[in-house]
Parts: sequence; structure tokens; C-alpha cells
Amino acid sequence: MSFDVAAVRGQFPILSQIIDGRPLHYLDNGASAQVPNAVLDAVRKYETTQRANVVRGVHALAERATEAYEDARAEVATFLSVQANEIVFTGGCTAAINLVAYSYGSLLKSGDRILLSELEHHSNIVPWQLLRSRSGIELDVLPVTEDGRIDVSALPRLLTPRTRLISLAHVSNVTGASLDVKTVVAAARAVGAKVMLDGAQRAPHGPLDLPSLGIDFYAFAGHKTYGPNGIGVLWARPELLEAMPPFHGGGSMIGRVTFAETTWAPPPRRFEAGTPPIGQAIGLGAACLWMRGIDWAAAHAHEMSLTQRVMDGLQKIDGTWLLGPASLQARYPVVSFTLEGVHTHDVAQVLDSFGVAVRAGHHCAQPLIDHFDIDGTTRISIAPYNDHGDIDALLTGVRHAAKTLR
Ligand code: ALA
Repeated sequence: MSFDVAAVRGQFPILSQIIDGRPLHYLDNGASAQVPNAVLDAVRKYETTQRANVVRGVHALAERATEAYEDARAEVATFLSVQANEIVFTGGCTAAINLVAYSYGSLLKSGDRILLSELEHHSNIVPWQLLRSRSGIELDVLPVTEDGRIDVSALPRLLTPRTRLISLAHVSNVTGASLDVKTVVAAARAVGAKVMLDGAQRAPHGPLDLPSLGIDFYAFAGHKTYGPNGIGVLWARPELLEAMPPFHGGGSMIGRVTFAETTWAPPPRRFEAGTPPIGQAIGLGAACLWMRGIDWAAAHAHEMSLTQRVMDGLQKIDGTWLLGPASLQARYPVVSFTLEGVHTHDVAQVLDSFGVAVRAGHHCAQPLIDHFDIDGTTRISIAPYNDHGDIDALLTGVRHAAKTLR
């Protein structure tokens, strides 16, 4: 299958930059992906021809802005194969999970249980701990396998009749492992629990068909999906959104306000108090449209062939240890490794001197790092615009680190 990586790469102006005399090899897409011209153009169009507040104005510019904002919601909905009124714009993926933890969480009672896993990002742990301290719910934790997957075989042991929600990473931001959603949903249904997926690391790899997954909540971030910062998405089944109380109070989320009593707007506006991140939402809509224009069968095959090259290349370097599944079928293009005797930050710094951008450390997943009894990992995260030149530079840099730092 052929994939025209040069044509895709050419749409990302930042990637042709020379930094400190070196070409940029951007392999930190799991932290933040880059933005194509289509997104930059949409944001510029809003700022130069549509900029006004949304929902509240009657003038022509306000109508344009509201239309562009709602079109963006419809575009995100199409990307997820759901209805526009089921899409809530939030400040990010973390904000979306906090919204569910606060709002859906307020419907839970002391003694109810939520099941997480040992490989969750802190943003899918801490909001539930805050809920636990507010409401007396209990948290249970699925273990991980030695190859860095969530161990779904532990579900029967950890699910109880009081489990109300299972909230898990769709794809791990550290090991790249992809969740066996079918098994999780079947087990959840057997005890009447809802399922939420943190899609931050999955959404950047192509459109989703959420109804076919059978889940209840989905969250992802704009800045990892080729869109702007400061915007994220919560999708939830409409009956759940309808039952959920507001998280934040303010303008736009109300029906009627009096000092005696205030009523709420229907979802999704109920959850979008105040002026939303309008240009950012419009940019995310453009990013979703851009992603729908990609041939993902070819793009994913390209991403995974680069992943295989990274894994094979790292394994040949003495002292490396790779986390995550060996099989490409069980993972997405995120590869974490350690280099014996060398701190992950030092590896990342050497790579930086080769123009290679990666992330190093605990990746906001300290329980997982503790599980493997390591200080952290160096992480490579791949997007469709990465090419063989990026991987060559990475492997040259790691070989140099292995030779010079030990
Ligand atoms: N969650 C982002 C990452 O994994 C920041 O790097």
C-alpha cells in the first residue's frame, strides 16, 4: 500500500523548519501533534472574518461565528459517527474527564465503585480520586500485563454489582497498547456498569465509529489531533448527558435564572458555560475534516511500518528494553524504551542535539512506571507525517547516546 508521506508532510509548515541549524524530526506527537495548513486557515478565517461571541449575538458577525462553531461540532460528530448534540466542547481531554467525574460522578453514591487500570494517565486517575474524597465512592484497579497491556482477564475478579463505571485508556500513552474494548464492554454490561474511554492517543489515528464500540463516554484532545490547544471533546450517550447536572455555572448553560431558582439549558450547552474556546473549536472541526480526507488504511500501515522500524532498530542497540506489545496488531505507534545505565532525560537531550524531539520521564503515568520499577522511559510517538528520515535520525541519536553516555 503506498502512502504519499511527502504530500502530507508538506501541509505542516512547522516541519520544514531548521532549528539551531538542524532539520526537525518531530516524534513527540503523543504530547502534541502539529497543525496542518487547513487548520491554520480555518482559525485565521474565524479571526479575520467571523470573530464574535457565539450563541448570544444577533448581529451578522455573531451569526457567522455561531454557524462556524456549530459546523465544527457537526464535523467532530461526523468524525466520531455520532450526532452533533452529543458533542460537548471542553477545554481539553483532561477537562472532559473531569466533567464526567464531577457531573456523572455526582449521581453516584457512597459505596459505588469505579474501575480504572494501572496504566492510566493521571488525568484518568486524579479526577476519580477527587470524586472519591467528595462522595465516598471506591476505586478498583485493573493490573497490566508484562507487555504493557491492560489485563482484561482480571475483569471478572474486579467487577462487582456496585461497579458503576469502567474508565480506561483506549490506547496507552506509554506502551502504545490498544484496549480490547469488546471484552471490556461485554464485562461491563454483565454488571450494568458504564464504560468511558480516554481516546487522547487513539483519536489522532483516524475516524472512529463510537456506536459500534458500545461504550458510553469518549474523550479526546484537540492539540493531539492536529488541532489547536485549549479545546477537547466529550461525547456521551444522549440519555446520560440529559441526566447529568452542570459542571460549571455561567452564561449560556441556563434556561432561566432567578435568585430563587435556575434551570439548565439542554445538552450540550448545559456543559459549555461562559464563552467557549471558539476559534479553537473551529480549528478542531477543520482538523477532523482534514483527518477524514486521509486514507487511513494507508496512513496507518505507514505509521505501523515506521513503528516496526523503531522497534527493530532499538532492539539491536545493546542495553535497550522496550515496553509494550511485540505485535503490531495490539498497539498504536507509540514506543517507549529504557537504555540501561542512562537516564531517560539524558537520552532525550542527546536526541534533541540530533534534532529529534521525543518525550522522556513518567509521561503522567507514575503508577505504570512504578509497576515496572523504572525511573521513566524515552517515548517515540509517530504521526502520518513522519518519515524514514525521522526514524534514521532517531536511531542514530540513540546509538550515539548508548556509545557516549555509558
Ligand atoms: N498526555 C500527553 C502525553 O502523554 C501530554 O505526553
